[in-house]
Amino acid sequence: MPSGPGRKGRRSSRRETRPALRSAALAIALGIPAAGAAWPGALNAQEGPGLGVELTPEQIAAWDINIAPDGSGLPPGSGDAREGAEVFAVQCIACHTTDGSEGLNDRLVGGHGTLASAAPVRTVGSFWPYATTIFDYIRRAMPYALPQSLSDDETYALTAYLLHLNGIIGEDEVMDAESLPLVEMPNRDGFIVVWPPTEER
Ligand code: HEC
Repeated sequence: MPSGPGRKGRRSSRRETRPALRSAALAIALGIPAAGAAWPGALNAQEGPGLGVELTPEQIAAWDINIAPDGSGLPPGSGDAREGAEVFAVQCIACHTTDGSEGLNDRLVGGHGTLASAAPVRTVGSFWPYATTIFDYIRRAMPYALPQSLSDDETYALTAYLLHLNGIIGEDEVMDAESLPLVEMPNRDGFIVVWPPTEER
């Protein structure tokens, strides 16, 4: 290890720092109030721990983007498969290939009729029970490196494109808050709801 004069100098000056000074610096760093002042984080049965800040309705709305299987929560906007193909070519093919049927990452197209076989191919088309979840997922999570950067129109169009590539809707069918929940996915009834339990289970 090099031990030049500079290094030695730094080490000795650190040793000289007085303990009182060090704890004062630590108190400042941690935001601890001076002796005698009220502790802002002190537990108070009435007021709670006093931590955190209240979110504005706008901040909550930005996180509150869940879309239920029945489509509740879907925003205004629309798109069809042709428009979706254009967005897909720019934003998605690097990882999912042109038609989504292979690629570096999850396969998005095909696999129909394979779920009960020894080699099931689970894609959004063969496996996912609700078309509305495709919209929710793309809007929330894709493109992988830049999630939540797509407009709602682009997301509807991409959803339509994936549904069309999977042979579920026609190329000209417009997807919006009305039509998307009506799309019946091939594996719609392939899931068993285990909660809440019923008498049969
Ligand atoms: C940089 C690579 C990358 C890009 C670009 C990308 N994706 Fe993905 N995608 C992924 C990865 C990785 C996953 C799997 C993520 C996981 O399982 O957590 C995935 C998963 C998905 C899934 C879910 C598949 C499943 O069966 O679970 C969908 C749908 C999807 N992507 C759509 C898109 C769309 C639409 C675009 C373009 C807007 C896009 N992706 C762009 C990497 C990418």
